[in-house]
Amino acid sequence: MRQRLGANLQWPTVTEPIISPAPEHAAAASPPAARSPDGTPPPGVAYPKTIKSFVRRAGRTTAAQARAFEHLGPQLLLPYRESTLEPVAVFGRSAPLILEIGFGMGETTAKIAAAMPDHDFLAIDVHTPGVGALCKLIAEGNLSNVRVMQHDAVEVMRDMLGDGTLAGVHIFFPDPWPKKRHHKRRFVRQDNVEMLIACLKPEGRIQMATDHAEYFEQMRQVTSALCDELEEAEFVRPAGAAGEELTGTNYERKYIKDRRPIHVLAFRRKRV
Ligand SMILES: C[S@@+](CC[C@H](N)C(=O)[O-])C[C@H]1O[C@@H](n2cnc3c(N)ncnc32)[C@H](O)[C@@H]1O
Repeated sequence: MRQRLGANLQWPTVTEPIISPAPEHAAAASPPAARSPDGTPPPGVAYPKTIKSFVRRAGRTTAAQARAFEHLGPQLLLPYRESTLEPVAVFGRSAPLILEIGFGMGETTAKIAAAMPDHDFLAIDVHTPGVGALCKLIAEGNLSNVRVMQHDAVEVMRDMLGDGTLAGVHIFFPDPWPKKRHHKRRFVRQDNVEMLIACLKPEGRIQMATDHAEYFEQMRQVTSALCDELEEAEFVRPAGAAGEELTGTNYERKYIKDRRPIHVLAFRRKRV
C-alpha cells in the first residue's frame, strides 16, 4: 500500500536492494551452488522476475512536494492493479500514449508533456520525492495529459499495459548497476524489452539514453537480438533539451558537467 506523506517526513534509508524471491524461485535461490560468483544464472535458468531494477533510495521530500502528493495524488496517481489500463477512461480522450520509465524528478516529463498537448503520458517511478515533484510540476503547468504511477514499471508493463497500447517509450538514464554481480538488475534486458515491444503499436518508438558505455553496449546487444521486431530510428531530442543536451534530464545535466559522453538509441517497432 502506498505511504502517505507528511510535510516533514523523511524516508528511512534503505541500503539493501529489494529482492523478494517468489516462492517458485526460492528453492533455486537458496543453495549457494546454484549461483556463480558474478551472479550469472546457471545455463538454462532465467533471472527471477522478482529481482528489481531499483532500490528505494532515501530522499528528503520537501513540504511542497508532500503537499502536491497529498492534494494532487488522488487525481494524478494511478494505482497499480492486475487489470488492463484503459487509456481513454484514464485521460478522457483517445491520444497517442507515451510511457516514461524512471522519470526521476520529472522535470523532462513535464516539459515534454507541455510541448506535446496532443499526446498523453504515463510516467512511472518508485522514488517518492520525485513523485511529489512531478505532481507539483503537473499542477504548475496545468497539464491534463500526464498521469503518474509509483510502482515497478516491469509489473505495470506485465499486468496493466495491453498489447499495442503505446505510441512511445522513454527510458532516460536507467540505473546502470555497474558491478557485474548487479547486471541482472538492469532494466534494459531482453525479457523487459520483449514486453515493451508487445506494448507498442506498430511504428511505436523506444528512446533510450545512458552515460554508461558498457550499459549502452548491453542496450545494443539486447535490441539487435530483437531486430526481427525493432528497427533503428533517429533519436528525437525531446522538448526541454537545451544546447548540447540530448534529453535535458537532471542526470544528463550532471553527466554533461562531469564531461561524460552521452549515448542515445532509438527504435521503431516494425510493422509485421
Ligand atoms: C538514474 S535515475 C534517472 C532519472 C531520470 N530519468 C533522469 O535522467 O534524470 C533512474 C530512475 O529510474 C527509477 N527506476 C528504476 N527502475 C525502475 C522500475 N523498475 N520502475 C520504476 N522506476 C524505476 C529509479 O527510481 C530512478 O528514479
